[in-house]
Amino acid sequence: MCGIFAVSGERNDAGSMVLKGLKKLEYRGYDSWGIAVREGEKIDVEKQVGKISGVKQKFPPATEAMGHTRWATHGGVTKENAHPHQVGKVTLVHNGIFENYLEAKKSLDDWKFHSETDTEVIAALLDREIQGGKNTAEAIRAVAEKIEGRFAILVMVEGEPGIWAARRGSPLILGRGETETFIASDIPAFLEYTTTVNYLDDGEMVHIHGAQANFSNLKTGTPVDKRNITVDWTTEEAEKGEFAHFMIKEIFEQKQTIIRAINHEDEKLRQAAALLKQANGVYFIACGTAHKVAAAAEYFFADISGRKINVVPAGEMPYFERFVHEGTALIAISQSGETADVLEVLERGKKKGAKILSITNVETSSVARIADAHLPIFAGPEKAVASTKAATAQMALCFLLAHADAEMRERGSINRGREILRTTASSINDLLNPRYEEHVRDVAEKIVDRPNLFIIGRGALYPMALEAAIKIQEVSYIHAQGFAAGELKHGPIALIENRVPCLVLGDDPETVSNAMELKARGARIIGIAPTPAEVFDEWLRVPDCNGSQAIASIIPVQILAYHLAILKGLDPDMPRNLAKSVTVK
Ligand code: F6R
Repeated sequence: MCGIFAVSGERNDAGSMVLKGLKKLEYRGYDSWGIAVREGEKIDVEKQVGKISGVKQKFPPATEAMGHTRWATHGGVTKENAHPHQVGKVTLVHNGIFENYLEAKKSLDDWKFHSETDTEVIAALLDREIQGGKNTAEAIRAVAEKIEGRFAILVMVEGEPGIWAARRGSPLILGRGETETFIASDIPAFLEYTTTVNYLDDGEMVHIHGAQANFSNLKTGTPVDKRNITVDWTTEEAEKGEFAHFMIKEIFEQKQTIIRAINHEDEKLRQAAALLKQANGVYFIACGTAHKVAAAAEYFFADISGRKINVVPAGEMPYFERFVHEGTALIAISQSGETADVLEVLERGKKKGAKILSITNVETSSVARIADAHLPIFAGPEKAVASTKAATAQMALCFLLAHADAEMRERGSINRGREILRTTASSINDLLNPRYEEHVRDVAEKIVDRPNLFIIGRGALYPMALEAAIKIQEVSYIHAQGFAAGELKHGPIALIENRVPCLVLGDDPETVSNAMELKARGARIIGIAPTPAEVFDEWLRVPDCNGSQAIASIIPVQILAYHLAILKGLDPDMPRNLAKSVTVK
C-alpha cells in the first residue's frame, strides 16, 4: 500500500534512481506518484497522476531524492493529493493512515492546506515543531506521539542534508551500499545496488546521509544498534524476464515454489505442530486469498490429523477476541507479512498471552517478527497484485503441517505428506506448459464476453471456488462468485441462465450432479478435474493429487483469470483499486 523509496549518496542522479526504484514498487500503489530532489538549499517536487511505469522524466543533478507511488486513502486521485507534500521547510512522503488527522488539523488553522490528505497534516505539524525551535529528530518524535494509526514516513528538510525515516506499523527497509544508503518499503527497489539490508523496526527512526545511517528509538531518541543482514533475493526473481507480466511469470514459477515451500526440517514442523497440540483453541487468521488458503487448511487438518481449527478473516477477529487468552494459538498466514488487519489481531493476541505461528513469504516481515515460531514459504518475491505462487506454497505448507500434526499419533505421516506434495509438484510441472496455457486461453476466449461467472467445489475445493472468484474478479473485473457445490441450488441457481459460465472444480459424483443441475438451466460447464465428465462443455485437466487436489485445481483458474484480463485489454499486474500489500485497516 504505497511505495516509498529514497536514496542519499554520492552519485549525482538520485532523481532518476528514485524514479527507477519506484517503478519496481509500483505494485504497491499506482494511482499517482511524486519525487522530491534536493537541489542545494531547495527541495524540488515533481508530481503526476497516473502510473509511473511509462514515465521518462529528467531530473536535475542531485545526490539525495525520495519518492512515493500512491494508493489513495484520504482524498481522490489528484496531483494535489499525490506525495510528497511540502509545508514550509518540510517535504514528506507517507504510507499508512493518520487516524486522528482531522482533530490534529484543527490546531493548524494558520496553514492553508492544498490537499485532502492526512499526510499534509503530518508535514504541517512537523514544520510547526521545527519553527518552534525543535531540531528535526525532536520534531519527528513529538509528531509521532500525536499520530494514532500505522505509518511510515520519510522527511527531507530544507538546508539540512540527509533523509529521515520513521515507522510504526508500515514497513521500511534500508539498503546499505558502499557510498550510499537507500530506504524503501520493499527490497526490489534497491536490489540492483545492494543485498545488504537493515530492517527499521516498529517504533524506530533513522537518519541517513551518504553511507551513514543512525538509528534511534522513536519515543526516547536512544541510539539503536543494527545488524547488517544479507538477503538472498536475486534481481532476476524480482524482474519479469521473458514474461509479459509478473502474474504469468509467477504462475509458471509454481513449478518450483511448491517444492521450495516444503523444504523444512521435520523437527521444525514438529515444533510448529506441537504449538497447535498444546493450544487451547487454534485460530487461523488471514485476509483475502491467504484467508481462502486458511479455509483449505481447515479441511486438510480435519482430514489428515482430525483437528478442528477455526478460520477467521483477520478483520472479523475482534468479534471472537473473547476466546483468545493465554494458551490460544494464532496461526497467521500472510504473503507480505505486513497486512494491517492481521498484525492488529496478533498484537492484541500477544498481549493476552496467545502463542503465534506465522506462515509468510517475507521472513523479516512484521508478522514473522511478532511470531513465536515462523514457517517461511520461500516463494521468492511475488509482485503481481494477484497472489498465485504464494497461495499454492502456503497451501502446500499447511498440508504438510497437518501431516506433522498427525505424526504425533501416526509415525511417518510427515514423510507421506511430503511424498504426496512431491508428486503434486511434479504433475504441476507437467501441466505448466505453453500448450496447456493456449488451451486455457481458448476457453477464456469463449467466456470473456459474459458478465457473470460462477464457481462450485466441495471439500477443500470449496475454498478454492471462493479463491477462484477472487482471482477472476480482481484481474478481469468479471463478476465471479464461488459456492459450496451443494449450496447453489439453495438460492443462487436463480441466476443461472443460458450461456452463464460455471467452473466446476472436481469430478466426484455429487459435484457432477450439481453441474448437471446447472447445465439443465443453460449453464456452460467448464470442468476443472482429473477426468472429463460428460456434463463438461470444456475440460481443463488437472492431475489427480491424492488429498492435495486444492493446490493443483487453482492453477488453471489463475491462468484463466490472467487471460480473461489480457483479452479485455487490462493490466493483470495492476488491477484497478488494488495494491499488493494492504498496510491500512
Ligand atoms: C488476492 C490477494 C489478496 C491478499 C490479501 C492478503 O490475490 O493477493 O487478497 O491475499 O490482501 O495479503 P497478504 O497475504 O500479504 O497478507
